[in-house]
Amino acid sequence: MFDFFFDIQKKYNVNIYVFCLIFFLSIIPFWLSFFKLISSLRKGDIKKIIFWTVTLGFVYFAPYLYIYLFGENFPFWFHFVFWGLIIVLIYTLIKKIANKLNAIKTDQGKNNWKDFFFWDLYSYPYNKLITFSTPHRELFNEVYQILNFEKDEYILDAGCGGGHLEDFFIRKGIGDAKIEAIDFSKKMLKDARTRCHGFPRINFNQLDLNKKLPYIDKSFDVIICISVLFAISSQEIFEEFYRILKSEGKLILVEPKPDFNGKKLWDPQKMGLKKLKYKAIKIYPLIPLIIFLNKIIDFKQRRDYYQQFSLNGLKEILDRIGFEIKITKLVLADQDWLILAIKKSII
Ligand SMILES: C[S@@+](CC[C@H](N)C(=O)[O-])C[C@H]1O[C@@H](n2cnc3c(N)ncnc32)[C@H](O)[C@@H]1O
Repeated sequence: MFDFFFDIQKKYNVNIYVFCLIFFLSIIPFWLSFFKLISSLRKGDIKKIIFWTVTLGFVYFAPYLYIYLFGENFPFWFHFVFWGLIIVLIYTLIKKIANKLNAIKTDQGKNNWKDFFFWDLYSYPYNKLITFSTPHRELFNEVYQILNFEKDEYILDAGCGGGHLEDFFIRKGIGDAKIEAIDFSKKMLKDARTRCHGFPRINFNQLDLNKKLPYIDKSFDVIICISVLFAISSQEIFEEFYRILKSEGKLILVEPKPDFNGKKLWDPQKMGLKKLKYKAIKIYPLIPLIIFLNKIIDFKQRRDYYQQFSLNGLKEILDRIGFEIKITKLVLADQDWLILAIKKSII
């Protein structure tokens, strides 16, 4: 047994301790993959058979991969095994990703799987940063003041993201009101459900705002839509909001100005992070990611894939559909417009 290891050291000029470590560490995964492969063969599950064969091959050759990468004088067939394994590994990975994307495609309609993926990714930095954003807290408070929680209102939050608004409402108290919070990003909804866990009067639902919404006419007393409309490809959403809102119902929209300056919003957010001191270490690495993702949003807006609304543009659309504008004011460090519109009742 020892001769085997010393031979390897002599033959391939590798560190025998590292080789032994990899060799012994791979024994348990080897037998585990072996038994998993046998059970997959019995069940006839092709996908699992391929997966466990690849894993078994990989684990079996792991000590030899060390020789391949760090040793000398290895036989020619090592090249085949090494590159064979790499190719099979890459192929399996690509297949896995393609299957995932196909599942999203069939789940979500043809065109929006990229958006779906984008907002899932966006949730990582956004949901962390927003937790410390003073401008967002001020905005949520502004929205809270507009609502009337004395009455048991039925509220729709269209594009609820990570549920920060709902969390704010829960802390302030929402009386007997009920909230329907919708978003199409699974990751955003997962975060939102965790944030508002155990609060039964909030229902989270995965829905696409580019499609007809599954609510009957005049369902809601209030619709809130914060920083979402720019990402919706069609203006039919305004008509949909009109349809599902009760007469005299409130529509609260918050949309970035066309000359939105991210830096101006970032400055007060930075103050919030500074207060966290060393705890902010985990959050700083997310900042380049959100800057990069915001650049993609800019790019999509320039390509007219995402929309941009001027205040007058928004007012015009709302007026045409049958809303009366009650309040317009700047929020989020003066980078977004808040609009409160009321659905005019038809006599
Ligand atoms: C910038 S975030 C704002 C989230 C939340 N309103 C807030 O203020 O924290 C935009 C949200 O819109 C959602 N969204 C984008 N396109 C959507 C669509 N077509 N249907 C539903 N939600 C969508 C995203 O998943 C994301 O959660």
